[in-house]
Amino acid sequence: MFKWTTEMRIDDGQIDDDHKELIAIANRVLWLERPNRDADELKMVIRELYDYVKYHFGREEVLMKNLDYPDFEAHHEKHEIIIRSMNYYLTESHHMGEILSNFRQLVSKWVTGHIMEDDKKLQRFMDAKVDSFLKKD
Ligand SMILES: [Fe+2]
Repeated sequence: MFKWTTEMRIDDGQIDDDHKELIAIANRVLWLERPNRDADELKMVIRELYDYVKYHFGREEVLMKNLDYPDFEAHHEKHEIIIRSMNYYLTESHHMGEILSNFRQLVSKWVTGHIMEDDKKLQRFMDAKVDSFLKKD
């Protein structure tokens, strides 16, 4: 099971809510990944995860643009890589088990790598912006 923890906090708002939702969907994928799984239900949840990841990245990118975030291009590129990987797994995997194990690895990399490194950079940038605003006379 994946779990959202306070170390993952980004904005105490919509981004954190998205991350919690994505983790919940990923856990549903894992939960369905059992011997007597219902293949149609599993496909629906994978579709949901795929769509929500894209939707969430779009939201993060709007936020970064609005903030003139200096690392936007690098962060956008990371999102593109994750989306390309998802597309690849969905089109090139030979069976559901392969899609599932690839998605499981992707989600764990997204949580430990992308959220904890790239999104955390954005969190520090946003916190610094708030701090400097509050220090102004
Ligand atoms: Fe991100």
